[in-house]
Amino acid sequence: MDVDKQPLRIGLIGFGCVGQGFYDIIQQQPELGLAVTRIAVKSPSKPRTLPAERFSFHADELLDDPALDLLIEVIDDPAEAFRLVSAALRQGRRVVTANKAMLARHLPELVQLQAEFGGTLLYEAAVCGSIPIIRTLDGYFSHEPLHAVSGIFNGSSNYVLTRMTEEGSDYGPALAEAQAKGFAETDPSLDMGAFDPRSKAVILAAHAYGVFLNPDEVLNLGIEGIGAVDIAHAAVQGRKVKVVAGLYRLANGRVTALVTPQFVGPESPLYAVEQEFNGVVIEAKYADTQFLRGRGAGGHPTGSAVLADVLAIQRGFRYGYAKQAAAPEAQLTADLEVDAYVRHADAGVLREALTWLELPAKALQTDAHGAFATGPVAVQQLWAWRKELRTAGIFVARVGEVRPVAVLAPGVTKAAVLA
Ligand SMILES: NC(=O)c1ccc[n+]([C@@H]2O[C@H](COP(=O)([O-])OP(=O)(O)OC[C@H]3O[C@@H](n4cnc5c(N)ncnc54)[C@H](OP(=O)(O)O)[C@@H]3O)[C@@H](O)[C@H]2O)c1
Repeated sequence: MDVDKQPLRIGLIGFGCVGQGFYDIIQQQPELGLAVTRIAVKSPSKPRTLPAERFSFHADELLDDPALDLLIEVIDDPAEAFRLVSAALRQGRRVVTANKAMLARHLPELVQLQAEFGGTLLYEAAVCGSIPIIRTLDGYFSHEPLHAVSGIFNGSSNYVLTRMTEEGSDYGPALAEAQAKGFAETDPSLDMGAFDPRSKAVILAAHAYGVFLNPDEVLNLGIEGIGAVDIAHAAVQGRKVKVVAGLYRLANGRVTALVTPQFVGPESPLYAVEQEFNGVVIEAKYADTQFLRGRGAGGHPTGSAVLADVLAIQRGFRYGYAKQAAAPEAQLTADLEVDAYVRHADAGVLREALTWLELPAKALQTDAHGAFATGPVAVQQLWAWRKELRTAGIFVARVGEVRPVAVLAPGVTKAAVLA
């Protein structure tokens, strides 16, 4: 470091897994010239790894401190994170955040605040931890049309699926193991219900296609209803069950997004993404297919992404959102279908679900583990019945890509096609 150069003074809001990970990394690299001069946390009574006088319990004090060159927001409360980040951007500040749930809900507003007040907001850590996917899409692929961006964006559910595949175990024991090892939260619903990867898909849509999606309108189906039998069913076909978050350019030029379990074969790079790892496949018009794999969570991997953002901000980097100017329309549920696999231990429950999904009763097959069915299902029906499917514990997986609903010849019914 240039001896005359002042260190960059950082205000760190949140000193949990990510905050401490970042702090630890920059302690190991003093030559970077970064100084965490103030830290805000929530609880005054918690034991800390640094002296008590280093901490403030009011994040607003950091917002009000003009001596700070940059703020890092890494708290676990999306509503409070939005209040802090939007207030900082209104001051024209430079901000780094990792809060995907907050970003997915408020990205258009935050981008607007950035433009209006001249601040900068970067958030590489919010999607797939250490994988530099946002910078890659926003910068390298800023002007290249993309056919698809898809991947495994949630390490906790991928860990559970990997353990089930390796051990032949059921969902409950695999989840308990993931929780014991710290790969899954005590309340696992955000991860296992695929809400977390949905937030990440929404963030990537802004950079891959210039499209700002409402997360509530994106279909997300999770793995809470999965059993060992479903893993075995996929394995017989030489495939694995993965939770795949996908953004796809449709033939009509529009963009769709959905997150569901999917039967994935060895032809996909995602087949080999195991344990708590994440992976992203970019299918570009000219560059063709690229694949990034890495750690999607954890103090050091996520702290590494925060550090990359801090240094990028110092160099004056901002996201370009280049595709926003000519963003395609989104088509999230209407007129789309997938080949689906649905299963439940109780044939009666599944029979009712087939009516929700407009699959004919004759599609139902029974075996020693209950009942299952396969067939084309409209994304609109999955969307309309998503809560009932989750409540009933019905496992649903895509077995192929999303496509426009097949137009049947006059007088031909779906049941006849399935016959
Ligand atoms: N963990 C990961 O691997 C990972 C990966 C990617 C993204 N993220 C995102 O990064 C963010 C932080 O995650 P984390 O795992 O580091 O969370 P965490 O371990 O639960 O730590 C959260 C920290 O935020 C502090 N905090 C909460 N509310 C606050 C408030 N109002 N004012 C000041 N500080 C407050 C907490 O204070 P106390 O210490 O007093 O409780 C704690 O230090 C989340 O948005 C998460 O989604 C996490």
